[in-house]
Amino acid sequence: MERLQTALDKARKKRAGEITEDPQVLRETSAPSLPVGVSEAWSNLAEIRLDRSLLQHNRLVAMDSSGESSAYDLLRTKLLRLSRQHGWKRIAIVSSAMSAGKSTTITNLAFSFARQTDVRAMAFDFDLRRPSMARLLGQRLSSNMGQVIRGEVPFEHHVMRHGMNMAFALNDTASRHSSELLQNHETADLLTAVEETYATDLILFDMPPLMAADDAHGFLRSVDAALIVMEAEKTPISQLDVIERQVAELTNVAGVVLNKCNYTDELYGTSYGYY
Ligand SMILES: Nc1ncnc2c1ncn2[C@@H]1O[C@H](COP(=O)(O)OP(=O)(O)OP(=O)(O)O)[C@@H](O)[C@H]1O
Ligand SMILES: [Mg+2]
Repeated sequence: MERLQTALDKARKKRAGEITEDPQVLRETSAPSLPVGVSEAWSNLAEIRLDRSLLQHNRLVAMDSSGESSAYDLLRTKLLRLSRQHGWKRIAIVSSAMSAGKSTTITNLAFSFARQTDVRAMAFDFDLRRPSMARLLGQRLSSNMGQVIRGEVPFEHHVMRHGMNMAFALNDTASRHSSELLQNHETADLLTAVEETYATDLILFDMPPLMAADDAHGFLRSVDAALIVMEAEKTPISQLDVIERQVAELTNVAGVVLNKCNYTDELYGTSYGYY
């Protein structure tokens, strides 16, 4: 708890120009060995309790390696390669319209990343309008992301870990002024502090649809890349062109997931495509 608070104070001071990064510190944190206190910070997080039959019912199939998880594992591996190649640390999952499958994709991806134990990752529900990851995972929460961002609830009291290398920052309450909240300095400082405290290699963000609100448009400037989820057979190619251009103006495009696709390579045995 103290560690995250110290990191938050540091993030605030850095943003205010009160301190500059000590090159020595930079060298140390980018060293392959784990910075002091990181394992302890992860151990102190509460472990998420999951009901496998509920996960299956909600199309969350990537907790174990299987034929069903293979498309998500492939996506994970491609994202990881791109992230390492470009130094990406934050990836948002976006779609143009509603119900493309963003929340299902990010949650499955999170389970797939959890099995990649040399990578520390987190999945944030930043759909502050219609959050759904908590419901998909069958979690009742006693606090919400709005409270965490505003500093009313400590991050480490809210977030839950799955294993020692994946954590879920869930939400079950819509926040007023969600777009402004995601773009304010409190969100920026929180993310910087979380990255430092937990030495995350990657943070994934679930977002509301781009067409529904300006939340994602505003927040995309704070991420390194976005993965576009597109509902096959419902999204016209012209719409994909538009969304790709929109996203590319704000951040890097990590790729496009062709979801709910009836015609796929049987090698992967699921309804996912990716290019
Ligand atoms: N690959 C898939 N095959 C079939 N159904 C799917 C697939 N992925 C998601 N779905 C279903 O589509 C619906 C919408 O999924 P999900 O909530 O993940 O979309 P979303 O893009 O997050 O929606 P929203 O825009 O409302 O946040 C859910 O009923 C989900 O079970
Ligand atoms: Mg969603």
